Amino acid sequence: MSDQNNNATLLQDIQKKYALLDQDAETHLEGLLHSKPINYWDYVQTDALLSLQNQRTVLPDEMVFIMYHQVNELLFKMILWEIDQVAHKKDICAVFFSDKMMRISRYFDMLTSSFTIMKDGMDVDQYNKFRATLTPASGFQSAQYRKIEFASTELINLIDNRFRDTIDRNTDYEHAFEHLYWQAAGKNYKTGKKSYTLTDFENRYKDEFIRFTKFYNTHNLWTIFKSLPKAVKENQKLIDAMRHYDYTVNIKWVMAHYNTANHYLNIGGETAEATGGSEWVKYMHPKYQRRIFFPELWTTKELEEWGENA
Ligand code: HEM
Repeated sequence: MSDQNNNATLLQDIQKKYALLDQDAETHLEGLLHSKPINYWDYVQTDALLSLQNQRTVLPDEMVFIMYHQVNELLFKMILWEIDQVAHKKDICAVFFSDKMMRISRYFDMLTSSFTIMKDGMDVDQYNKFRATLTPASGFQSAQYRKIEFASTELINLIDNRFRDTIDRNTDYEHAFEHLYWQAAGKNYKTGKKSYTLTDFENRYKDEFIRFTKFYNTHNLWTIFKSLPKAVKENQKLIDAMRHYDYTVNIKWVMAHYNTANHYLNIGGETAEATGGSEWVKYMHPKYQRRIFFPELWTTKELEEWGENA
């Protein structure tokens, strides 16, 4: 096609596009004459991004802590972005599903392998000084982390293991919510009293979580996988990708995190209280949490031994 024909087709397409939006294409074309050329820093918003690292102390390693958490939140967003596309896609095929699973897994692999930035990358004394200014905040209050869980599996798999038998699909959301595994980090089960860390988190996010779980209860990765045709569900590559993701999030990441907590908070055999105030030594271990996104993809033995040798 000649350049002239090409331009004419392009113009027609532009006119069609704006006609559909009930807009005048000529005004938009005229706007192009005056618009600024884009550059890297405006597009990536580097100035805004690099203005978000504000320390509470003068200790240099606090900057490592802040920035690594921010990197995590960005990757959490990338994961949720992919899951959202799976959740809203009609007629999912094996290739699409596997492709998205691989992307999500790669992001979580990166979070897991990079966790040494936390464990080995800060001075222990500095950490224990700046963390005193962070109480009662905790990574426990990461809403995106909770959303990844809600979007990955059915609610029952996130219920505290001790109450799983008493809850099913007919249980109301409020009741199920009160028995999510992570309530154990912030609740005294004898008195029912919640810690400030948990109450503050719920005041900010509970309504949003309930809305989110209502949608994802039927659109999470596990429910979608189970609804795929038998041949797809038996695709070994896909099963491997699902198991890999489950293991990475619920054993590898959890253990990297747990070992980091031990490194900073277990000094000379004495366990320090965490900023979120949980009984973290027990709470954070995968064999206690027994959080498994895709339980039927594991053998009985694997389930029994979940987190035992981690
Ligand atoms: C020196 C680094 C870190 C230490 C010592 C640490 C320690 C802890 C502890 C003790 C808890 C239990 C709740 C509490 O009492 O506060 C916790 C929870 C949590 N932290 Fe961290 N953390 C670190 C880094 C991170 C990073 C980089 C992230 C990424 C966003 C993160 C995300 C979380 C999440 C999501 C929870 C809740 C986990 C669950 O409910 O199983 N933490 N952390």
